[in-house]
Amino acid sequence: MTDSSYVSAVRESYDTVADDYAKHVPAPAELDALSRAMLAAFAELVRSAGPGVVADLGCGPGKVTAHLVKLGVEAFGVDVSPRMIELARAAHPELRFSVGSMTALEVGDGELGGILAHYSVHHTPPELLPVVFAEFHRTLAPGGQLMIVTRVVAAEYEHVRLTHAYGEHPAPFDSHLLPADRIAELLEQAGLVVTARLVREPGEGMKRQVASLVAGKPGAAGSRGRWGGVDSAVCH
Ligand SMILES: C[S@@+](CC[C@H](N)C(=O)[O-])C[C@H]1O[C@@H](n2cnc3c(N)ncnc32)[C@H](O)[C@@H]1O
Repeated sequence: MTDSSYVSAVRESYDTVADDYAKHVPAPAELDALSRAMLAAFAELVRSAGPGVVADLGCGPGKVTAHLVKLGVEAFGVDVSPRMIELARAAHPELRFSVGSMTALEVGDGELGGILAHYSVHHTPPELLPVVFAEFHRTLAPGGQLMIVTRVVAAEYEHVRLTHAYGEHPAPFDSHLLPADRIAELLEQAGLVVTARLVREPGEGMKRQVASLVAGKPGAAGSRGRWGGVDSAVCH
């Protein structure tokens, strides 16, 4: 699948369901403890890496973008669905949202202190993930932090096609599910350093495994190293 055909398909489907999505998907403050903890940890990592704005890529109606701002980081949202962006702007007029694709971001090299992709990369066909991850690497500043939260599978690859999601409107949704380790490998191939991966087992409200992967762009001035100094401070 080409970059533009997948992006058009995602745009059309999310435009169709955007209003229902905004109504029914819970705000981050109502998520479970681990989901909230990962968002808080990501915000702290960004803050401690220095000043820098976070791009919430595939921001949907902007609830997570607004949550990041509450957690003390400057953030803006980008989504391929114009209707999602209208809803995000209406709900959070004080924040910046724009229509765009993570396959070709309208952001300069090294401009971002952080990138969050919260349940948004699984729509990307696997052959195009290197394009997306190259964009993440290009736009992050040295020392910049990335967190991907996404549904994953234990092994190999699974393509899931839903004909309806988020309400009654028929709309096709393709999900391309990879193992967390494969995503980590692709991030490393793009030049990012994976520092953490949390794989959560299916359970209440989660039909599949969900992974949170944290990665950094190497090369921060005055870098405290991969472990933020923990090894020298704590391990003897
Ligand atoms: C499941 S929703 C998640 C929305 C939000 N991040 C959240 O957690 O509530 C996935 C969003 O990713 C967006 N998306 C998917 N592929 C994208 C791409 N290539 N560039 C920008 N947005 C994309 C969709 O339009 C949709 O709004």
